[in-house]
Amino acid sequence: MTTLTEYFTVLLTDHQTDTANHTSHAMQSKTDADATHITDAMSATIDVINTLVHAGKQIADLLRQGALADIHGEAGAENVQGEQQKKLDVIANDLLLDALTANPHCAGVASEELDDATPANPDGKLLVLFDPLDGSSNIDINMPTGTIFSILPYHNQGQTAQNADFLQPGDSQLAAGYLLYGASTILAFTFATALDTDQSGVVMFGLNPDTGEFELIKECISIAEDTTEYAINGSNYRHWLPPMRQYIDEVLAGTSGIRQKNFNTRWVAAMVGDVHRILCRGGIFIYPQDTKDPSKAGKLRLMYEANPMSLLVERAGGAATDAVKRIMDYQPTDIHQRVPVVLGSKNEVQVVRALHQQQQL
Ligand code: AHG
Ligand code: MN
Ligand code: MN
Repeated sequence: MTTLTEYFTVLLTDHQTDTANHTSHAMQSKTDADATHITDAMSATIDVINTLVHAGKQIADLLRQGALADIHGEAGAENVQGEQQKKLDVIANDLLLDALTANPHCAGVASEELDDATPANPDGKLLVLFDPLDGSSNIDINMPTGTIFSILPYHNQGQTAQNADFLQPGDSQLAAGYLLYGASTILAFTFATALDTDQSGVVMFGLNPDTGEFELIKECISIAEDTTEYAINGSNYRHWLPPMRQYIDEVLAGTSGIRQKNFNTRWVAAMVGDVHRILCRGGIFIYPQDTKDPSKAGKLRLMYEANPMSLLVERAGGAATDAVKRIMDYQPTDIHQRVPVVLGSKNEVQVVRALHQQQQL
């Protein structure tokens, strides 16, 4: 079994060799300076992922103890989005914040649970955004939750990082991933194409409870183009826009409708769990725009939920849109910006897209 430590060591060695020889796919036609820059970015990114993993293991430990560790229930405060914070939202946020701000590569951190970005080392090359505990409503009932992260380059080295430094499109991400705290603890991540010189795409590791090490499960994960499994919170049906209602009507009609096949619903109530299922066996995940609160474009947050999941899904051959537009093309205007999300198996995402495009005409 390959441990995460071994995996990263090989990756960095390959990278250094590639830098010297310019042999790999991503490095061909690069100048020496470009190649060195890529290797530096890669090694800093790996270091930051190791820090995230270390904090993630502590969160997994707490979840395993559950009620016995007194981590259930409300923290008694609201976050910037007006949502009640759970105790574990706050604990997970603090663990990640403390660990990342102590990492010399990290110039700043932004979290779902913090109004503004927290500056770290001004000389760091990277910015890290995270959803410390995704699926908070699952904590108290012993159901899956996760941590989602997105790593961006920092362009103002030497200066104190501010909110504006984080407002980069998803396409600028250097890496993204999640930890899933489920029946077992899973780590999935991917590097941006330019950094992924080994072409390993999306990789998945499982935490071995006996050794405390993450061990490689799979590389080059690929999402099937077609699916008959969908995830959406159907209780919001009356608030959806007409094309989304039409899509779900057609799906529910099964073999007797236009789709001519039966579909199955799965809803984990933690995006991290739904995306994990899609990486494992395909499917479509939707949190659409609705009319419940016209000031919110959707429920999910662009920078620490939608963008990192979009990078994983696209790198695995799937599609990630707001129903029409590619999510990673969004130019963010706020670190807590919300966005509608339709992602997963490519052909199914295209069905949703076609309905929305037709009805826009
Ligand atoms: P968070 O717990 O970080 O606020 O995110 C929860 C999100 C997402 O993970 C999940 O898919 C969705 O909210 C669940 O929404 P419903 O409450 O509508 O099921
Ligand atoms: Mn979340
Ligand atoms: Mn959260």
